[in-house]
Amino acid sequence: MMDKEFITQSSEETIAKGREIAAKLSPPVLVLLSGDLGAGKTTLTKGIISGLGAAREEDITSPTFTLVHVFQKPSSAPSESNPLKVYHVDLYRVENFHDLESLGLEDALGEKAIVIIEWSDRFTFRSDWPRVEIHLQHEGGDARRIVICGLNL
Ligand SMILES: Nc1ncnc2c1ncn2[C@@H]1O[C@H](COP(=O)(O)OP(=O)(O)OP(=O)(O)O)[C@@H](O)[C@H]1O
Ligand SMILES: [Mg+2]
Repeated sequence: MMDKEFITQSSEETIAKGREIAAKLSPPVLVLLSGDLGAGKTTLTKGIISGLGAAREEDITSPTFTLVHVFQKPSSAPSESNPLKVYHVDLYRVENFHDLESLGLEDALGEKAIVIIEWSDRFTFRSDWPRVEIHLQHEGGDARRIVICGLNL
């Protein structure tokens, strides 16, 4: 699939782009985010997770120290047996495979979840899940370039 490229000029625009991405995601999927410090990975994730209806924007914060946040979308029907789970992971402080294993991501990968990973380029993921790769880049001031691969936007 072709890469898609967007420039945003504010965090609000990046959040809006995250909401557009959310509308195209269906579980199971890995959303692999990369890009420098402050490039906007967490900001984009706010848009994705709030767009999925799994949390409010203000409740989506960086998992830099907690490493993993789990959200569950409230079921629309009480009879729904598999409510959507959304994992927000930050690998910035994860040093090695031992630490990575301790995060319990295998559970996520057994659940048909949506798994969003910041600093995903620090590790190689062996998973046959579909993946969307998103790279964010500073373009001076508040401008950010967002390159998306694996999604029909
Ligand atoms: N166009 C933009 N898109 C996203 N964030 C922007 C933009 N312009 C300014 N910002 C600001 O840049 C910062 C981006 O921070 P954010 O935590 O989203 O980055 P990050 O890539 O997750 O960083 P880290 O590597 O520390 O996890 C925020 O303070 C945000 O307000
Ligand atoms: Mg972040």
